[in-house]
Amino acid sequence: MEQNIQEVLLTEEQIRQRIAELGEVLTEEYKDKNPVIVGVLKGVVVFYADMIRQVKVPCQMDFMCISSYVGTSSTGKMVVKQDISADIQGRHVLILEDIFDTGNSLDFTYKHLMERNPASLKICTLLDKPARRNPNITLKPDYVGFSIPDAFVVGYGLDYNEYYRNLPYIGILKPEAYN
Ligand code: IMP
Ligand code: MG
Repeated sequence: MEQNIQEVLLTEEQIRQRIAELGEVLTEEYKDKNPVIVGVLKGVVVFYADMIRQVKVPCQMDFMCISSYVGTSSTGKMVVKQDISADIQGRHVLILEDIFDTGNSLDFTYKHLMERNPASLKICTLLDKPARRNPNITLKPDYVGFSIPDAFVVGYGLDYNEYYRNLPYIGILKPEAYN
């Protein structure tokens, strides 16, 4: 696994520190709001587990799973494979995501949750890759962990063909690892 990593982009320590900073911001934002914090599976699991413990307010956890992404390129077409279980009408909802890349998935997720009339809906993404944004998407993440260059990254929940999610840091894959 590690021998296929060309470069460590974000170390465990960098990620930990940034999550602590975001935690302070989110704790302030959501105090007295009793939020539902929605994780988009599966890429978010590692970030979710670390992030939620830094949001020091009463909150509920929920998850949804959407699908479309195959290998290293987005197809653009999405389906909800698993929906959230909470009733979010009138609730403050925060979406946690691993990466905002073209923006297609989060745009889809955002619209899907917006239909249920939450009191507020915000997005916190660990990574933002602005270079690859779909120009038709005007949605922007409200909270960003790190803005990263246009490279395919794995680790800390992010996968290539379902592997590397358990790497504790975020790295750039060697081109030969795609074969
Ligand atoms: P988007 O719809 O293009 O914004 O892509 C969102 C999804 O694509 C993410 O939730 C990831 O699952 C996946 N993705 C995008 N870029 C990467 C990457 O560099 N590494 C691993 N997965 C990625
Ligand atoms: Mg994802």
